[in-house]
Amino acid sequence: MNLQEKYNNPITNEKINKLLDEMTIDEKIGQLNQVGPSPVGGFEISLKELDKMLKSGRISQQEYENSVRGMYSDLREEEVRQGKIGSFLGVKGVDKCNKLQHIAVDESRLGIPLLIGLDIVHGYRTIFPIPLAESCCWDEDMFEKTSSIAAKETAASGINWTFAPMIDVARDARWGRIAEGAGEDTYLTSCFAKAKVRGFQGNELSNPEKIISCAKHFVAYGAAIGGRDYNTADVSLQTVFETYLPPFEAAVNEGAASIMSSFNDLNGVPCTTNSFLFQEILRKNWKFNGLVVSDAGAIGECVNHGTASDKKDAAYQALKAGIDIDMNSSSFSDNIKLLLEQGKITIDDIDRAVSNVLRIKIESGLFENPYTDEALGEKLYLCEEHKSLARDSARKSIVLLKNDGVLPLEKNIKIAVVGELANMRLEMLGTWRGMGCEQETVSLIDGLRENGINFVFEPCCSVDGFFDKEKLLTVIKDVDIVIAAVGEYQNMSGEAASLRNIDLHGRQNEMLKAIFDEGKKLITVLFNGRPLAITEAVNNSNAVVEAWQLGSQAGNAICDVIFGDYNPSGRLTTTFPNNSGECPIYYNHVSTGRPTSEIKHSCKYMDSPLTPLFPFGFGLSYTDYQYDNLVLSKAKDEISVSVDVRNIGSVEGTETVQVYVKDCVASRTRPVRELKAFKKVTLKPSELKTVKMVVPKDSLMFYDANMKKVFETGDFEFFVGHDSTAVLSKIVTID
Ligand code: BGC
Repeated sequence: MNLQEKYNNPITNEKINKLLDEMTIDEKIGQLNQVGPSPVGGFEISLKELDKMLKSGRISQQEYENSVRGMYSDLREEEVRQGKIGSFLGVKGVDKCNKLQHIAVDESRLGIPLLIGLDIVHGYRTIFPIPLAESCCWDEDMFEKTSSIAAKETAASGINWTFAPMIDVARDARWGRIAEGAGEDTYLTSCFAKAKVRGFQGNELSNPEKIISCAKHFVAYGAAIGGRDYNTADVSLQTVFETYLPPFEAAVNEGAASIMSSFNDLNGVPCTTNSFLFQEILRKNWKFNGLVVSDAGAIGECVNHGTASDKKDAAYQALKAGIDIDMNSSSFSDNIKLLLEQGKITIDDIDRAVSNVLRIKIESGLFENPYTDEALGEKLYLCEEHKSLARDSARKSIVLLKNDGVLPLEKNIKIAVVGELANMRLEMLGTWRGMGCEQETVSLIDGLRENGINFVFEPCCSVDGFFDKEKLLTVIKDVDIVIAAVGEYQNMSGEAASLRNIDLHGRQNEMLKAIFDEGKKLITVLFNGRPLAITEAVNNSNAVVEAWQLGSQAGNAICDVIFGDYNPSGRLTTTFPNNSGECPIYYNHVSTGRPTSEIKHSCKYMDSPLTPLFPFGFGLSYTDYQYDNLVLSKAKDEISVSVDVRNIGSVEGTETVQVYVKDCVASRTRPVRELKAFKKVTLKPSELKTVKMVVPKDSLMFYDANMKKVFETGDFEFFVGHDSTAVLSKIVTID
């Protein structure tokens, strides 16, 4: 039985009905009301303000931590006592969570425990790489392991619900939230979605080491026009069904117990009030039995969308469409009773939503186990096992973009390190850093120190415009090798952090050029939450190491790669453009009538190269791999792919073997190629392995002009190789 079926079982339903019989209308509405810990300001705004204050030096790190822990008001306790709140977001600290649960369980009339949610996207105290980075591991086991550890630490903190995984396919690097997901590919994002749900939830939602997951944002949030966060998404239904929905279906099938609707409108209807999405797709087609929560404040925002006359109208539309919990807009709590009295909604509408909330509370074992052992966390947070996984996931997320042979470095040489990011621990943690903090993070400088490297460091250049050339020339004078840390601050990606220009900011290119002009060997290490347009940096560097925002163990992981203790194996999950103007750019675009070529009248920019700077799937290693002997064999429901891969270098390495398929002729234009399978294989020098993968025939289906899902017989070209430009191919006819 899958988890969705399990949620809807007779015993749970009986408990729900019994509770519904006892509940007053106010208590029912309370279950649909999710709030932040403080009625003043709200969690999101305060946290951002605090971030700004910390960055500008107005408060110390300690003051920052204290304020985050203190963002809580006694006023909320009284509302819990009265049954007016069913769930929280943003409460931090196991003592606070326990206190609130005690009030809910012991002091409210019906003793219904609380859902307490937080965005644990890539770790609670042990912070793993941001999802965009981690996706570059192409490793489902790793995706599962990191979310499993995140769940364990989170559960120990009293939080029982995470607003993750974020599984929005993102094709536009300008969109800051590209950092939070698994990149531009639907298949890879679906694998990521499944593994994350498994890791967070396990097989039993009631397991005390697990937490409830929430697949978000439903749906097509990543299609924001121009990459501008919160912007409208105007996408064909075919693209919605083929590109944006499959990761959510995968998450639902894996048992995701909750779904969050997205802020955007989709083809004219805000997702928050989109009954087609919730009723037809989620509940009817996918048999989803979990709960649906709105995004923060999103119900109220339907007034701004101009599709609701006021918050009451918005509450009406959202409840009717299928939202169960109102996140922080008080539209439900202020209006549902009135709507019932006016006969606009029925008690059944309310009971449906309440049942969905109670079902997940019951299934997650909250009624039996509402409290958390307050001593547990300190034993778990950043324990050796967790730190070592943070380091392993981080080094596997690194993508080597260029290497003229300068890497790996010998450990006994003297190097100069420049660029302020090398010494900024907090910047390593990325967006949604849970409770990760500065003191517990290894920067690049810390990593070099821990690895006993002989180096000199001077920031010389900031991300935002400061550059001291004289200092740079002094510090690099006596060394042959320079490591330059460049990129973005962590708050330049993530929510509400869209950029129109994704070049290296400030004077960072100028610094790299100055190092190049001095004839030094330059290793550029990039810290960023999105693909950047780094043509100039690449040209001026001997090696380029894409280090994203790698979390608690960033510095150690980078040293592992730079000094050859780990042979880089990461592969890009987003295309890197040559310049900002190429956005959106992604490998699996459909075929045009005039394919990109040297010819003038072909699909291209006159002032850009014909190919991206780095393609999807790309990543170098300290060895090379050779592909040969591609064999395709047809069975009834699948095509088996077999290929020989040989390590032709002198060190062991791990290759990610990728299979792309092109539908040669179809009734609609189809992608030039699409990822359909991949497998990682570790090979000793000269070793050859035959790698076998399977592509289900179903995965070659698509939506025709009438939105019917079809399989069209004919020729399919299979490309197998190292990245999305793989040339080794065979055509197979499938009936
Ligand atoms: C974001 C969500 C997040 C929520 C709660 C919203 O602004 O869009 O992804 O889960 O805040 O923090």
